[in-house]
Amino acid sequence: SPFLQRRADGRLYFEDCALDELAREHGTPLYVYSRSAMRAALSAYESALAGRAHLLCYAMKANSSLAVLQLFAQAGCGFDIVSGGELQRVLAAGGDPAKVVFSGVGKTPAEMGQALQAGVRCFNVESEAELDKLSQVARALDRRAPVSLRVNPDVDAKTHPYISTGLKGNKFGISHQRALDVYRHAASLPGIEVVGIDCHIGSQITEIDPYLDALERVLDLVEAVEAQGIRLHHLDLGGGLGITYTDEAPPAPDALVAALLERIDARGHGHREILLEPGRSLVGNAGVLLTEVQYLKPSEVEGKHFCIVDAAMNDLMRPAMYEAYMAIVPCAERADVPVETWDVVGPVCESGDWLGRERVLAVREGDVLAILSAGAYGMSMASNYNTRPRAAEVMVEGRSAWCIREREKIEDLFAGERLIG
Ligand code: LLP
Repeated sequence: SPFLQRRADGRLYFEDCALDELAREHGTPLYVYSRSAMRAALSAYESALAGRAHLLCYAMKANSSLAVLQLFAQAGCGFDIVSGGELQRVLAAGGDPAKVVFSGVGKTPAEMGQALQAGVRCFNVESEAELDKLSQVARALDRRAPVSLRVNPDVDAKTHPYISTGLKGNKFGISHQRALDVYRHAASLPGIEVVGIDCHIGSQITEIDPYLDALERVLDLVEAVEAQGIRLHHLDLGGGLGITYTDEAPPAPDALVAALLERIDARGHGHREILLEPGRSLVGNAGVLLTEVQYLKPSEVEGKHFCIVDAAMNDLMRPAMYEAYMAIVPCAERADVPVETWDVVGPVCESGDWLGRERVLAVREGDVLAILSAGAYGMSMASNYNTRPRAAEVMVEGRSAWCIREREKIEDLFAGERLIG
């Protein structure tokens, strides 16, 4: 991110805030986000979509902290949600429910009812059984549920298998072979109003081609569905655009959007409203996780040195879960200790609890390290494993810094628990 810079004093700054100072003031582990970086990421999408009927629905699972949602809501964004809890967060942050799309394979009747009452823009329905249930729930409330079918175009997004969702054989969406029949069924249901079509092929995608392949298949379907007299107002092309963690070179959001629009226009669909559901690409590089070095532990096994820090897999799950690479750099450079190769690990009792392997660093106990590109799927995936309170969060802009989430307190962790007798 251009907002993250090492200055002449050897210290790392997010906007005009020195990260080591924020760590001292707020403690570690600490998530820090740049408001300007989030706004810049958003405007790359917005400018490419200017002059088009469109709605950006921030996939809030990437980072659902209220102040982050507030920023996007104030910028006019909608939200892609996957639970009733996420809907409540949108409302608490001042978001507009009429700009919310509701995705996910397992929406409960209660969540459906809640979303209907709130007046969400669209349900992205992922199965026939869900469609029938939604129709019943809507009828019971004397409403019709606006629906897109999430179709599975069976294209390879060429990303990690755990975050690839557009191939047949994974649980997401309705196969494009079945989709036409399911649309016919949807159009016949009393509680359903068909409004669009949706697809999402995966996450951390670094090429344009899989998007274009999916788009072609979706447009084929749009034409087939409309030939049956079922009108599709909008086209939701999902999220999934990757970011640079190390040496990935994903297309910029505006390049991706331009390529999509060109294909949409070429096939005569330029009049349709375009929805997108980006998550990671709006927030990923706008966040870092700060952590303090607790102990250095050179190991007997040749070449293995452990740098034990106070952040762990419960704070940032991506390395443990996907073997994801996240860059790790010191907040203040030092020249008084030699550079060594460290495995950066947390205090959690699992061998999988590592944040970075074989990282070349000059560190001492008490130093603060920054784990980069941690704005997406960091805090939102954090847990309390090992009864570890979740980290605090700070938002910066220029010289200003706001604590947007206080560090969790231990007593909060078992406040809902009961002893017996
Ligand atoms: N829309 C739908 C229906 C999704 O399932 C997702 C992400 C998105 C949009 C946003 O995708 P994005 O633009 O953020 O790639 N925890 C994993 C990523 C899981 C993504 C799940 N779905 C990770 O840390 O890499």
